Amino acid sequence: MSERVLMSEVQSSQNDTAQPDAKSQTRRRFLTAATSVVGVAGVVGVATPFMGSWNPSEKAKAAGAPVKADIGKLEPGQMVVVEWRGKPVYVLHRTGSQLDDLPKLDGILKDPGSEGSDQPGYVASEGRSIRPELFVAVGLCTHLGCAPKFRPEVGAADLGGDEWLGGFFCPCHGSKFDLAGRVFQGVPASANLVVPPYSFEGDNVLVIGVDAEAA
Ligand code: FES
Repeated sequence: MSERVLMSEVQSSQNDTAQPDAKSQTRRRFLTAATSVVGVAGVVGVATPFMGSWNPSEKAKAAGAPVKADIGKLEPGQMVVVEWRGKPVYVLHRTGSQLDDLPKLDGILKDPGSEGSDQPGYVASEGRSIRPELFVAVGLCTHLGCAPKFRPEVGAADLGGDEWLGGFFCPCHGSKFDLAGRVFQGVPASANLVVPPYSFEGDNVLVIGVDAEAA
């Protein structure tokens, strides 16, 4: 049986002060975070109230119960983090321009077609999602498991300038991923971010942990 949950981590689109050895810090921040909206591409500093929350029991969490998140108020450019099986799951509402940019990156990615990726078969599109705009991925770097930062700023100077079209940056050892969680060439991580099983109930409820086919 699924149980509703809601929680998220503040993960600003702005640079923060995470250090290369901050893996434990990052995890701790995730586990203790309060409900909030994450980065807002292009609207730095704006935070929009998001979902109410209610947590599954510890027993249910340990058993890996599916979790539900109300995504009805998640605006384009916003991301929230939902806890599932003790892991952060990133839920990003991509903008039209972010979707348009994805194919431009194929030449600098290790696995642009996600052929070696850990993901359900029903997210085989370039954007690695069921709904084009809504990206769902486990927010743990495929190198050594740090939580990558949401960095949607196009052209961020510290992430490659013109080559950076927004994505996720892992401060631990410098791995970069695009807004479909696809890993860049020349970084330590070897695989794209993992996409968990998920499905929807109606238009506004995301269910993490239940496959679309089984929903
Ligand atoms: S854990 Fe992300 S780059 Fe090493």
